[in-house]
Amino acid sequence: MRDFSKSSVAVLGAGKMGGILVKALIEKHRLSPTKIRATVGHESRAHELSHKLGVAVTTDNVAAVDGADIIFICVKPQVVQELAEQIADKVTAKQLVISVAASVHTSQIEGALGAGVPVIRAMPNTPCVLGQGMTALCKGQYVDAAHVEDAAALFNAVGRTVVVDEKHMDAVTGLSASGPAYIYIILESLAEAGVKVGLPRDVATLLAAQTTLGAATVVLETGDHPALLKDAVTTPAGCTIDGIMELEEGKLRVTLIKAVVKAAQRAKELALG
Ligand SMILES: NC(=O)c1ccc[n+]([C@@H]2O[C@H](COP(=O)([O-])OP(=O)(O)OC[C@H]3O[C@@H](n4cnc5c(N)ncnc54)[C@H](OP(=O)(O)O)[C@@H]3O)[C@@H](O)[C@H]2O)c1
Repeated sequence: MRDFSKSSVAVLGAGKMGGILVKALIEKHRLSPTKIRATVGHESRAHELSHKLGVAVTTDNVAAVDGADIIFICVKPQVVQELAEQIADKVTAKQLVISVAASVHTSQIEGALGAGVPVIRAMPNTPCVLGQGMTALCKGQYVDAAHVEDAAALFNAVGRTVVVDEKHMDAVTGLSASGPAYIYIILESLAEAGVKVGLPRDVATLLAAQTTLGAATVVLETGDHPALLKDAVTTPAGCTIDGIMELEEGKLRVTLIKAVVKAAQRAKELALG
């Protein structure tokens, strides 16, 4: 296992996603808190966040990247260009830049940082906070196999990782980065349904969440097609088929497909502001 405990790491934009990565990578013992320098946009947030995350937090991006081995860019897509231009003088080809910003292409970041700088785009999701994340990685033109291994090792510590071509990153954004929000709505609805049929809310929420986790685990562990697994639950003339008919009438499938398509389309535009 690659040891990053001596690596200096800059996390530029320690908001929701940057903060989750700092917290989770420290908890999973992949990064040392004393070697992390994080930044935010507003001075007023720096002190409180430093206390919360247990790492140094400032608003000085240039100082943060100076001498760092790995630089995470975690600001909003519209801020990436300005940020990259700001740090360009201090970034060299010896450092690895990992951007989690949706929509912003590796070529844009390379263009702002200068030729030769290895840039990896990562698209994680919020369950990284408990080591159950899903992250897709794609590589820029100056990235070699060792860089990809390093990025994968970091994100594997907080969930699963897949490497894709850059052309798929907006699709990934619409599916697995936005996905937790869709699943929370489904979970909330199932719990509400449990309440409707008489269950206490806490029991209904537990049943819904563990059922979702269980079904997802079976898909991941067996590799079986979800349709086959669904068939195994659906006894002829039983109750599940009645429930499925309601889902089909309510167009759950097409609604979910349309949600991912819309989110992926929006992901293409984000960098434009
Ligand atoms: N949230 C997700 O589920 C998710 C998933 C995958 C990828 N992402 C990507 O992660 C990035 C951040 O999203 P988020 O949800 O974490 O947003 P967020 O909570 O608003 O975080 C953005 C952070 O950037 C800081 N910031 C703004 N301008 C800065 C500057 N010039 N220098 C340094 N820091 C600056 C902000 O600080 P202040 O608050 O002080 O302004 C804030 O801490 C986005 O590019 C998004 O596409 C997010």
